[in-house]
Amino acid sequence: MAPLQKVVVVYGATGVQGRSISLSLLKSQQNFVVRALTRNPQSEKAKELARLGAEVVKADGFNDNDMENALSGAWGFWLNTHHHDPATQQPNGPTDEDLGNRLIEIAAKAGVKVFIYSTCESPAEFTKGVAPVPGMDAKHRCEMYARTFKEFDAVIGAFPGWYFENYVTPEYAQAFGGFPMFPDNEGYLTWHAPLVGGEGKVQTVSIEDDFGEMVHGMFLNPLKWKNKTIQCLSDAFTYEDMVKTFTEVTGKKARYVPMASADDFPTHGNSVLIELQDVFRYTQNNNGWFFGNPDDFATCQSLKDEARRDKGLEPEPVISLAKYFIKHYGPN
Ligand SMILES: NC(=O)c1ccc[n+]([C@@H]2O[C@H](COP(=O)([O-])OP(=O)(O)OC[C@H]3O[C@@H](n4cnc5c(N)ncnc54)[C@H](OP(=O)(O)O)[C@@H]3O)[C@@H](O)[C@H]2O)c1
Repeated sequence: MAPLQKVVVVYGATGVQGRSISLSLLKSQQNFVVRALTRNPQSEKAKELARLGAEVVKADGFNDNDMENALSGAWGFWLNTHHHDPATQQPNGPTDEDLGNRLIEIAAKAGVKVFIYSTCESPAEFTKGVAPVPGMDAKHRCEMYARTFKEFDAVIGAFPGWYFENYVTPEYAQAFGGFPMFPDNEGYLTWHAPLVGGEGKVQTVSIEDDFGEMVHGMFLNPLKWKNKTIQCLSDAFTYEDMVKTFTEVTGKKARYVPMASADDFPTHGNSVLIELQDVFRYTQNNNGWFFGNPDDFATCQSLKDEARRDKGLEPEPVISLAKYFIKHYGPN
């Protein structure tokens, strides 16, 4: 007899995180049904997921009826709300935390068994109130709220590091002085940023290459990861290593110019950049540990290994900084 189908609902399936998870789960040899949520099933990304076998369902997270329908009969639920979404920044409107909490309540009522949440640790807790990062602190509270529901067999927090994808995004290059895309007026690709703190390492994850497989690994063995907040990282490196590696790969001149203080990081009133400035204050006050604790590569690799085994693929190491730059900027 074929094993029972397990419906896994992926919120934000057309986004960076959700797409990577969906693509990995779609190749699973378990009987997962990937139910990909989107507000626009006609988008190219939604149609691609449908072509690959996902059940694409139209749902808006702010609409309870949509979400009740979307979660009906679901075994698993991946939730990643975008906390810079303007819809959660309105005065007197619902916050990202309100949205997360509401979706957790709907999922519990719908009978979801395994809830995996795109989360953060709490900078306020790790720095004893010295360097809070409000958006991260709120995600941590959501995860803790989910753990109070007896309806779930497992609640797991997947905590992504700094995206490698930011290095192929022009807006991030511009916000940090141009590296790795736009040379400055001295001809350098310059990364201009505050000090990270501690050993100065930046915990970084490739969402496309690794994160989807790590979360896939969590869905394979949820009781093992129950009530854990799991760091998701591919590599960790200093900004000095980062620019040196880029030069080695491309031959282009690159440099890191540190800022004297996090206060010098230009935010232009942009909520993402304001949060990044808070993150530098947090890591400077927490040994440079974005994840709160020292890096744990072994867990990341083991989750990836389990997912690849489930897909019938050869094991592969989590991607390194050098490999990422070769893939995106290296010689063809
Ligand atoms: N950049 C980094 O280094 C970094 C690191 C760690 C964490 N993060 C966090 O990651 C989060 C962003 O995740 P991402 O990169 O995957 O975002 P993304 O690529 O912008 O995707 C957002 C997804 O959410 C869906 N969505 C938005 N509003 C919705 C609504 N009202 N109802 C249903 N679906 C909705 C969108 O789907 P449709 O448009 O198809 O409906 C889209 O698929 C942020 O909270 C960010 O701070 C970022």
